[in-house]
Amino acid sequence: MNMDSMMGDVAEVLIPGAEIEEKVRDLGERITKDYWGEKLLLVGILRGAVVVMSDLMRNINLPCELDFMDISSYGSGTSSSGVVRILKDLEENISGRHVLIIEDIIDTGLTLSYLVRSLKQRDPASLEICSLLSKPSRRRARLDVKYLGFEVPDEFVVGYGLDYAGSYRNLPDICILKKEIISDA
Ligand code: IMP
Ligand code: MG
Repeated sequence: MNMDSMMGDVAEVLIPGAEIEEKVRDLGERITKDYWGEKLLLVGILRGAVVVMSDLMRNINLPCELDFMDISSYGSGTSSSGVVRILKDLEENISGRHVLIIEDIIDTGLTLSYLVRSLKQRDPASLEICSLLSKPSRRRARLDVKYLGFEVPDEFVVGYGLDYAGSYRNLPDICILKKEIISDA
């Protein structure tokens, strides 16, 4: 599937890449100020956060390290199962460290609220969340998201790391897919 055929599945470009780039720069500046003098551990949630994490880290002017977790809450469909499972745990010991979780999108919030509870038990010096997107209308768990890029409506979005059934992650913009593409929505 090439870019043209992927864009053919798109109903609407919701956030153009240039706007994302600007927002990610702002987030990086805020994070740099807030953690000035500290060393950060960025924890990316696989696989959707990879794109925003790679752009964001280059806008953080601090010593930082990376780690990743893979958690499952969704299958290949578009709605939360409510079942959260750690598929890949951290390599790093986070005790005493400043941990910033990087997520692509917070939908119901069930995945991250589970993750935050579980990581807090490992005694980090601090634990905050940075998410590129949030769908506030769908929230089912309370979450403090310190660094948020954009709020989006209750539509299934793809691109800039976000997928539908594994595809569309390499689209440069955040896009709404055509309804007929999403079979189980
Ligand atoms: P939550 O537990 O419902 O907050 O699920 C969050 C996860 O669901 C995100 O990390 C995404 O992987 C996935 N997700 C939620 N909404 C979308 C969407 O609109 N497009 C792509 N993935 C989504
Ligand atoms: Mg995800």
